[in-house]
Amino acid sequence: MPTPAQRRRLERAARAAAEESYSPYSEFRVGAAILTASGRVYAGCNVENASYGLCNCAERTAIFTAAAEGERQIRAVVVYTPTKQPTLPCGACRQVINEFGPDAVVISVCDSDRRLETTLPELLPHAFGPKDLA
Ligand code: THU
Repeated sequence: MPTPAQRRRLERAARAAAEESYSPYSEFRVGAAILTASGRVYAGCNVENASYGLCNCAERTAIFTAAAEGERQIRAVVVYTPTKQPTLPCGACRQVINEFGPDAVVISVCDSDRRLETTLPELLPHAFGPKDLA
């Protein structure tokens, strides 16, 4: 479980990351931040493409950035969208979170006081993952 200070740090990082969102097609600006086992925070935004199928979600940008730095364990994910309702990670991102954070806490925040806190096992029950290939 992230501490209150870690939660504040993650939320701030996710909100800041959304400012860099490259989303000219959807105009849906998303920021994400993840907490790894080492205690570090990695942030990312969604990066879209004129070939729409190549759009990358904020969560995956953050996770791939962390993986490229050698991180292999995700403790928590925070997703920020500039909406009235919190947004949950898409199916593809749930699968990618599962790779490094099968027990991760997932927190969605937005521009209202509404927030959602759940876990990866709740979002992706009976997941296929590394354990199945062991
Ligand atoms: N998107 C994210 O970055 N994260 C989510 O959790 C939901 C969707 C992005 C993908 C695309 O750039 C835009 O939001 C609209 O789907």
